[in-house]
Amino acid sequence: MARGIAKAVGVCFLAGVVAAQTPLGPSEYTVPGVFPTSVYESYYNDPTATTAEPQPVITDPITHVTYPYWLTNPETIPQEDTWETHPLPPTASSSQLLDYAVQQIISISTSPIFSSDTCAACQVSLEVAKFLALAAPAEGPNLAIRLCEYFDYADDCAADYGIFTLGATLTQVAAYADAGGYDGQSICNQFLGLCPDPPTSPLDLTTWFAKPKPNPLPPSRKATGQRLKVLHMSDLHIDPRYTVGAEADCSAYLCCRPSSYNDHSPNVTVEPAPYYGAYYCDAPFPLILAAMQSVPVLTGTEEYGFNFSIYTGDLVSHDPGNQLSKEYTVYSETVLYDLLKRQINSGPVYAVLGNHDTYQEAQNSPYNIGPELTDQFNWDYDHLAALWEYEGWISSETAQQARTHYSAYSVQRHDGLRIITLNTDMWYTDNYYAYINLSSSDNSGMLRFVTDELQDAEDAGDRVWILGHVLAGWDGTNPLKNPTNLFYQIVDRFSPHVIAGVFFGHSHEDQLSIFYANNATDISAESALAVQWIAPSVTPLTNLNSGFRVYEVDSGTFDILDAYTFEADVNSFGGLDGQTEFGPTYRFEYSAREAYGGSITGWGPNDPLNATWWHLVTEAMEANSSLVTLFNTYQGKSSVRSPACTGECIDAKICYMRSGSASLALQNCPSGYGSVQ
Ligand SMILES: *[C@@H]1O[C@H](CO)[C@@H](O)[C@H](O)[C@H]1NC(C)=O
Ligand SMILES: *[C@@H]1O[C@H](CO)[C@@H](O)[C@H](O)[C@H]1NC(C)=O
Ligand SMILES: *[C@@H]1O[C@H](CO)[C@@H](O)[C@H](O)[C@H]1NC(C)=O
Ligand SMILES: *[C@@H]1O[C@H](CO)[C@@H](O)[C@H](O)[C@H]1NC(C)=O
Ligand SMILES: *[C@@H]1O[C@H](CO)[C@@H](O)[C@H](O)[C@H]1NC(C)=O
Ligand SMILES: *[C@@H]1O[C@H](CO)[C@@H](O)[C@H](O)[C@H]1NC(C)=O
Repeated sequence: MARGIAKAVGVCFLAGVVAAQTPLGPSEYTVPGVFPTSVYESYYNDPTATTAEPQPVITDPITHVTYPYWLTNPETIPQEDTWETHPLPPTASSSQLLDYAVQQIISISTSPIFSSDTCAACQVSLEVAKFLALAAPAEGPNLAIRLCEYFDYADDCAADYGIFTLGATLTQVAAYADAGGYDGQSICNQFLGLCPDPPTSPLDLTTWFAKPKPNPLPPSRKATGQRLKVLHMSDLHIDPRYTVGAEADCSAYLCCRPSSYNDHSPNVTVEPAPYYGAYYCDAPFPLILAAMQSVPVLTGTEEYGFNFSIYTGDLVSHDPGNQLSKEYTVYSETVLYDLLKRQINSGPVYAVLGNHDTYQEAQNSPYNIGPELTDQFNWDYDHLAALWEYEGWISSETAQQARTHYSAYSVQRHDGLRIITLNTDMWYTDNYYAYINLSSSDNSGMLRFVTDELQDAEDAGDRVWILGHVLAGWDGTNPLKNPTNLFYQIVDRFSPHVIAGVFFGHSHEDQLSIFYANNATDISAESALAVQWIAPSVTPLTNLNSGFRVYEVDSGTFDILDAYTFEADVNSFGGLDGQTEFGPTYRFEYSAREAYGGSITGWGPNDPLNATWWHLVTEAMEANSSLVTLFNTYQGKSSVRSPACTGECIDAKICYMRSGSASLALQNCPSGYGSVQ
């Protein structure tokens, strides 16, 4: 550079114009070879040495500090300035954090960068919520309310998402779910429709099972020819707040309440709630008692009773979240188990927790969520376990197991049957907690429990009935894919030699799904392994008749020999008002063997209605769609309100009957025909 300037000056000089008049020095100057040491008073090193840069001692005229040698000594260049720090912003208060979180989520939602990717916007917003939930948890419910209001997500955001309803739950889930990963994508898909449904996560089963499936299978237990009678009731949904004469055709759940009204006729009741119940309402006491009075008579159990009974969950009415409470939940549990005990000669009732039998509805958290939150649902597990023991249905030892397993338990009966129950909220799409670590497929340990119990049953030569509430398959809309995909593999591992039946409720409809070997890669009579029986509800909600079921079961194999379903026509209830001579009529609806068995050849009267038989039924349905029409009628318990099933619906129903996990249903079947409500 210096040389360049000299050259430029030289050019100028040679041009001779200004040079002649400017008294410049010589055209060249060579500086002395020694450093001008006199420039500085002192040096840290020897300034005359030719082997190192001179290091003068500099004193700051402002601060009067003498800069130390190490600051410029090339041998001691500091690698990090640890003695002076830049300032950080001050800690924000909780309310400031809330404001910033709201602002940021609004920025994200309005950013043109994100507008083409609603999924990214949603997951990034969840991340914002996550850190608010961790840093200022008390503001979590407020964030939920403010976002609900901003995005106009509900009519009364404070009632739905405040601290007294879902706000605390959402805050916990925001805090602990993997917002940026699979959990966040699933949440954004399920609740907001902003992400594509993430695929079923891969399963590594190499260490899941203690032993490989026996090959050949052990010899099966021998049929005795003696038939047990087993009652299957589900979804009673008592409404102790039912209001006779209130609007039964209301515009927002729950109807048959003093505040119910119809949008089209707000001041004049369109359909006054009958004394015995209505299609848009849960079951009033009179309907619950009518069903329970009918059971012994219609099933021929008045004198000797049932050998045992199963109750596949849901006791509490479908109130909006802000009208529910722990107290209302345990009230319904107390009332209904007591009635089952006193009204029906039921034998032991093996009951499970349904999604409505908790508070908030559908919410149950995994024990590993964290020390301060581990026990948050124990009030319910404790109460259920204590009631089941109090009614004499399970031992105190089993009740203790239920208390520590999300209300699930295992009973090894003396007759070779083992009952294993599940808390299916752990795979229910409406349980926000189920999205925490969802890709693990069993974050709660619920499926670990059932697997270990099944192994124990296999070792003991027991057969097993698995009981739960939320069905594992069918149209795939209610259960989560990952846990039911794992459950499907568990059923495969232990079927048909151990598992004699799987029983659910929840949908309120009479449905059924078959499990096949090898994840249903071959769907045939040869590969059919097990059946999930989904029982009809006692509650008419929604548009359904009221029903219950009795199984005939071989006392040696515990295979189902027949299933008898009963129903009461809810459409007729209005006509019973104003008199006390007659209550509702429950009637025999159908026998599964009679209804579907006609076209199945080579099936003796004592051969079970097992997975092979049901698969043959689906083949008969393929050949004769009238059988699907019949299935569709029974699905709604012969309700006058069930829509017909035609066209694509026919194929869809058969497909649902062959889909024992949500993964299979969503992968294989047309959607939209699951329900007749
Ligand atoms: C219903 O009653 C309210 C209060 O009396 C009245 O303001 C409203 O106009 C009525 N609505 C209809 C549709 O009659
Ligand atoms: C089933 O119940 C009936 C009626 O009480 C009884 O006669 C029969 O012995 C029971 N069967 C078994 C295997 O317990
Ligand atoms: C989620 O999974 C991680 C990794 O296995 C585990 O450390 C954590 O405890 C789990 N969190 C919850 C809330 O289940
Ligand atoms: C169903 O029962 C039939 C007749 O007893 C039997 O041949 C078949 O193997 C059984 N199927 C299953 C899956 O258990
Ligand atoms: C089809 O199924 C219906 C209902 O069970 C039955 O009435 C009818 O006879 C069947 N048709 C044929 C051709 O098998
Ligand atoms: C079973 O099939 C479903 C649907 O194709 C798939 O999503 C799932 O991953 C499969 N499960 C296993 C264990 O292979």
